[in-house]
Amino acid sequence: MSNNKDIEMVIETWDKYHPIYMECILRDRPDFHGFFADGGVETDFEFELLGDIQGLKLLDTCCACDARQAFSWTNLGANVTACDISPVAINIAKDNAKKIGLNVNFQVADARTLEPINDNEYDIVYATYIGWYQDIEMGFKNWFRVLKPGGRLLYVGLYPATVSKNYYDRTPDYYIFEATPVGRKYGVNINIPTVNFHHTLSDIVIVKQ
Ligand SMILES: C[S@@+](CC[C@H](N)C(=O)[O-])C[C@H]1O[C@@H](n2cnc3c(N)ncnc32)[C@H](O)[C@@H]1O
Repeated sequence: MSNNKDIEMVIETWDKYHPIYMECILRDRPDFHGFFADGGVETDFEFELLGDIQGLKLLDTCCACDARQAFSWTNLGANVTACDISPVAINIAKDNAKKIGLNVNFQVADARTLEPINDNEYDIVYATYIGWYQDIEMGFKNWFRVLKPGGRLLYVGLYPATVSKNYYDRTPDYYIFEATPVGRKYGVNINIPTVNFHHTLSDIVIVKQ
């Protein structure tokens, strides 16, 4: 069951963190915009998995302010829509796209509902970072909803996404968010109360009809 207070907490955390996050990314990668403007693609393994994606419609469920995966998919030739639940992330991502000169359709959306997205629209859904989502089943249902028949879901996640006290304990994990790894590298410590969600492997692999 969804708890709106928890979702608001996630949005608040990321709305506060994204401007700092982008600053740290730019300190770490001063040529961030130039890299993507020159056709750059990140080196993460997922960019080799899909084969030729030229001209395919791809939805990135969770692009963040940097949108580095969305820009990579675009440079690989896909027609990309990129969502994030944080309006601040989407504003920064749009600004990045302008600086880079890439055309990405950015939308504020909750990855679990994908509310502004129509059914049967995408050849590929690229879903990530489920530790921030409650209701993983709702997410999977909507990722399949927006896929065209025969479309592909590329799900990539750290596993386990959160460190749970007990593997089967799915109660929300409340903690103080300080920074992401790149933030820690530059001494960021924002101390915002936040929440993560634990999903067992069977929650991810088995989706009930
Ligand atoms: C760790 S960041 C992604 C970082 C970045 N894209 C990367 O891989 O380098 C996680 C992102 O998830 C977003 N997020 C959290 N909950 C979400 C939800 N329910 N729907 C969509 N985005 C969500 C946050 O706003 C944040 O941008």
